[in-house]
Amino acid sequence: MVIKRVSTGIAGLDPLISGGFKANSVNLVGGGAGSGKSIFATQFIVEGLKKNEPGIYITFEEKKEKVYEDMLQFGWDLKKYEDKGIFVFLEYSPEQVKKILTEGGGIVESIIEKIKAKRLVIDSITSFSLLYEDELTKKEAALALFELIDKWNCTGILTSEDESRDSHTITAAMEFEVDGIVLIYHVKKKGVRHRAMEILKMRGTKIPEKTISMEITSKGIKINPKKIIEF
Ligand SMILES: Nc1ncnc2c1ncn2[C@@H]1O[C@H](COP(=O)(O)OP(=O)(O)O)[C@@H](O)[C@H]1O
Ligand SMILES: [Mg+2]
Repeated sequence: MVIKRVSTGIAGLDPLISGGFKANSVNLVGGGAGSGKSIFATQFIVEGLKKNEPGIYITFEEKKEKVYEDMLQFGWDLKKYEDKGIFVFLEYSPEQVKKILTEGGGIVESIIEKIKAKRLVIDSITSFSLLYEDELTKKEAALALFELIDKWNCTGILTSEDESRDSHTITAAMEFEVDGIVLIYHVKKKGVRHRAMEILKMRGTKIPEKTISMEITSKGIKINPKKIIEF
């Protein structure tokens, strides 16, 4: 059976992962503050919007006006897509997302059905997983969330705030359950910071075992698979 792939929108990434994320997969994008997680997630959504594929962006951290303004720099006019009825930006609290789980869909589900969303972002899952105290309840919540995303037939990105480079702190529960994990780095070496990307896990997909150079340009994130970054 041919696996349906969903283009990531990140320049240079799709050919490295057999054409993109698996359709309806849930993928974690982990990295420290300023590493480019929100840009990555928005670029993924915009890739869909350009093709009239509706998307929803749920965030706990950023104000809509600020995000819309920042993303315009990359030529991404989120307001335009919102007006077209194919994009919804939701400023939500972790508690509200928790409620969605207990209600089995709630408001988010009705929005997804209304706009027929195919792509979904939750930015970030870190503040959400902090609501749960131990690994077991975190794991249960993660499972419930993944079941919902599966039911909604969306391809998802969850961002994860992760400060340390070596021992990434994405909760163990999430790491096991997700289909894909992409780590992005902004690491200082001899006084200069380098950006890089690593595909740590991608179910059913051959992945490059390399940490690849990454750039944030006026058009968004771009990777250069020929350039390996040594930390
Ligand atoms: N227009 C731009 N051109 C190049 N780099 C940018 C631009 N806008 C933001 N950046 C870089 O991206 C970083 C923010 O990325 P963001 O996705 O918000 O990070 P995160 O969500 O991981 O905290 C900024 O700190 C800056 O280095
Ligand atoms: Mg962010």
